[in-house]
Amino acid sequence: MNKKWWHNTIGYQIYPKSFQDTNGDGIGDIRGIIQKLDYLQDLGINVIWICPIYQSPMVDHGYDISDYELVDSSFGTNDELEELIHKAEKKGIKVLLDLVVNHTSDQHKWFQKAMDNLESKYADYYIIKEGVNGEPPNNWRSIFGGSAWEKIRNTNQYYLHLFTKGQPDLNWENKELREVLYEMINRWLEKGVGGFRIDAISHLKKDFSYNNLPADGPDGLVSGWDYFRNVEGIEMFLNELKEKTFKVYDSLTIGEIDDVRSDDLERYIGEEGYFSSIFDFCHTRYRVRDTKWRSNPIKMVNELRDKLFSKQEFANEHGFLCNFIENHDLPRAIDRLIPQKDINYYSKSMLGAVNFYLKGIPFLYQGQEIGMRDYPKESVKEYKDLTTYNQYKEHLARGISAEDVLQKINIETREHSRTPVQWTDGKNAGFTEGSPWFDINPNYVEINYKRQQSNPGSLFSFYKRMIAVRKRVNLMDTFIYGKTLPRYLHNSGVIAYERIQKNQRILVINNCNNGPVVLEFKEGIKEILLNNYNDLVTGHSDIKLMPFQVIVMELSKSV
Ligand code: GLC
Ligand code: CA
Repeated sequence: MNKKWWHNTIGYQIYPKSFQDTNGDGIGDIRGIIQKLDYLQDLGINVIWICPIYQSPMVDHGYDISDYELVDSSFGTNDELEELIHKAEKKGIKVLLDLVVNHTSDQHKWFQKAMDNLESKYADYYIIKEGVNGEPPNNWRSIFGGSAWEKIRNTNQYYLHLFTKGQPDLNWENKELREVLYEMINRWLEKGVGGFRIDAISHLKKDFSYNNLPADGPDGLVSGWDYFRNVEGIEMFLNELKEKTFKVYDSLTIGEIDDVRSDDLERYIGEEGYFSSIFDFCHTRYRVRDTKWRSNPIKMVNELRDKLFSKQEFANEHGFLCNFIENHDLPRAIDRLIPQKDINYYSKSMLGAVNFYLKGIPFLYQGQEIGMRDYPKESVKEYKDLTTYNQYKEHLARGISAEDVLQKINIETREHSRTPVQWTDGKNAGFTEGSPWFDINPNYVEINYKRQQSNPGSLFSFYKRMIAVRKRVNLMDTFIYGKTLPRYLHNSGVIAYERIQKNQRILVINNCNNGPVVLEFKEGIKEILLNNYNDLVTGHSDIKLMPFQVIVMELSKSV
């Protein structure tokens, strides 16, 4: 495998709106990120991915871009962004921007020009089709709810939007459009960004070979995934995109890709793949509060383990997936994966480590390192995101009572991860001097960075140690390039694996049970690298792991 600069990435995702406000308008900003660079460096981070900071009407909080070349004034200026890139670089941190090229905002000048004149070349930058008998061209449901088509005023034409109607899909079949996008991407790369996280990239190609399909809900619509996700022919776009942009700059690119088939992974992230890595979501659908697992959380753990290891089989031979448990589209991991009664320091720290040392690029999400939690609401009106409201309406339409829908939303909504970062126990958790754009979780009085910063027994200190182990010079190579071998597969609720390379063996064991487990163990221990308890109980030929204990050790015997 050819070595690349980004192979030893420790990534951290920033949702800028909620990271740190510096001018008192209640919205996090680029200055706020600059201010926290020392913090990120201290934690051990060397790559940050910032969610979209371009000009946007914020219908989807920045994922609806109205100007790719301009920083939104709520976040700061282009000069400040360049300052951030350079200051970060000096601290050994690369900046990844979010690349959103499946769609623009309906306020983008291309779309405006298209709407002004459906004969103009800009109309072909988007996907516009004739309605059928007064109805949209077909009955696709948008990923965020409602029809995926919006009628264009005074015509029988509709434009496609797989997300909100403020996010018209771009027509990647148009060569001129593709070239314009590549030029834009290269301008950012010229400015020194390390690469991109690439949004919704599996939707670039659409298949229009059908009209209506049988409805799958009371709205008469259908989630036509097979017609707009990983559709055959997408390879041409992805390859061209890489060849004309990322490859030229040796950048780190991470595609947001749902459901890539295992046999396609080589084309995506193999040595000559379209991207450096991908965020794969095979493991994020697990939620311990779903009826399926509520009474049997260990069954969930075992399924999750099998999913993780089946992807590692591929990673062993071919490439790097991203090892993450949280992002801005998911509720907080602690609330998703740990039964409420079992939430404590041990379960929280163990969860942080559960996939951290697998082969791949580890990625944290802001606030994860201090154990930020979901913030359920009394009323749906306290939420901000359009998709939350669409989901609310859809559940109601399916006949679920308003009370139950609120409960469901309170468990499922992605907005939990978007509450402002809790820096201190002071005013507004130290996030802003003004009034925050989104309510701060009242638990900031207990859960905040300041309280954990210099306490060696805190979750934050655990995360720091966890990252430091991953970066140790004598272990780094094995963590990056070593194979992953599952271990203790017959022990229920245990996620354990060895990382092996040459003569080095590192064993990682996570006990996801809320009780102790005894595991057969006849190895010599060279060094205990990480432990969320003070010690490890070893017997003659076994070890006993305490509830939610995680242990990482280098074994003394060579393979
Ligand atoms: C991606 C983003 C999500 C956004 C959507 C539409 O899934 O992660 O936040 O709403 O794309 O751009
Ligand atoms: Ca601000």
